[in-house]
Amino acid sequence: MTVPEIRRVGVVGLGAMGGGIAQLAIEAGYQTVGREVSHELGSAARNRIAHFLQRKVDKERMTSAEHKTALEHLSLTTELADLADCDLVIEAIVEDLGAKLELFGALEDIVRPDAILATNTSALSVTEIAAGVSTPERVVGMHFFNPAPLMPLVEIVRAELSSDHAVDAAFGVGERLGKRAIRCHDTPGFVVNRVLIPLLNDCIRVLDEARVSPEELDTAMTAGAGWPMGPCTLVDLVGIDVHVHASEALYEKLREPRMAPPARIVAMKNAGLLGRKSGRGFYPYD
Ligand code: 3HC
Repeated sequence: MTVPEIRRVGVVGLGAMGGGIAQLAIEAGYQTVGREVSHELGSAARNRIAHFLQRKVDKERMTSAEHKTALEHLSLTTELADLADCDLVIEAIVEDLGAKLELFGALEDIVRPDAILATNTSALSVTEIAAGVSTPERVVGMHFFNPAPLMPLVEIVRAELSSDHAVDAAFGVGERLGKRAIRCHDTPGFVVNRVLIPLLNDCIRVLDEARVSPEELDTAMTAGAGWPMGPCTLVDLVGIDVHVHASEALYEKLREPRMAPPARIVAMKNAGLLGRKSGRGFYPYD
């Protein structure tokens, strides 16, 4: 089957991930509708995108004209109804199954019958999300990595009832966004998080076992294992709450002790130390 042309992309939720995905979409020339729950959150996302694009202009990786054109491709809304003409909607809201089911149910009534619905979930089941709509064949996972504009991979996740057509279309979009796309099935954590989450949890346990500081652990893994950033810096970037949630979701499904979040990081989450976004995690941020 030929892959249908995707011209208009919707992104629901413009936080760190959704904002990054919207940035990729406008840079790739897609007309993009970004939906946030308030005008303030939408504008904040647009400002972040404008800032990162301006940095590209400063570094001569983009012209001022391209910057302007990219931003013109982005329209913001607080109304889901404004996604009606989108050929693909990518969901990047809170990692809560109930909230996602509610959103997909609403989207199904708004978008055209042939529009594709994708979720950027990190650790929930795409099949369970798809079960919330009457046309699950159009639902796929498009799992980007943080920071989405910089990380080269996207996992295109085939849920139990995803059609070839939806998987191929999402794969094509992933490639047009400049990503290295891989297809995988809907298993807990897909490919990367299945491996990375327990590894990061091991790293956090080593902090106490080997009695090293976050700085020492980060030095160990960057200088000794070639990681681009240390595990504490990475978990701060991803968000302590996001990491704890992903760990809990994988542990619930797989029951492997390494998947369970270490007590230390659960305590950090409960104390509001969420990493970069809250100003403090393993490290303080301005
Ligand atoms: N969005 C857009 N652009 C961004 C950005 C963002 N969030 N963050 C940085 N940039 C831009 C900036 O303009 C920056 O340049 P500037 O500082 O001159 O303004 C430019 O990118 C380059 O940034 P860096 O100098 O920090 O880039 P590095 O060469 O150091 O690489 C990195 C940064 C790619 C993040 C690298 O450190 C890396 O690969 N880290 C590992 C990240 C990783 O493993 N992510 C996966 C996490 S797991 C996950 O996401 C799964 C999920 O389900 C939880």
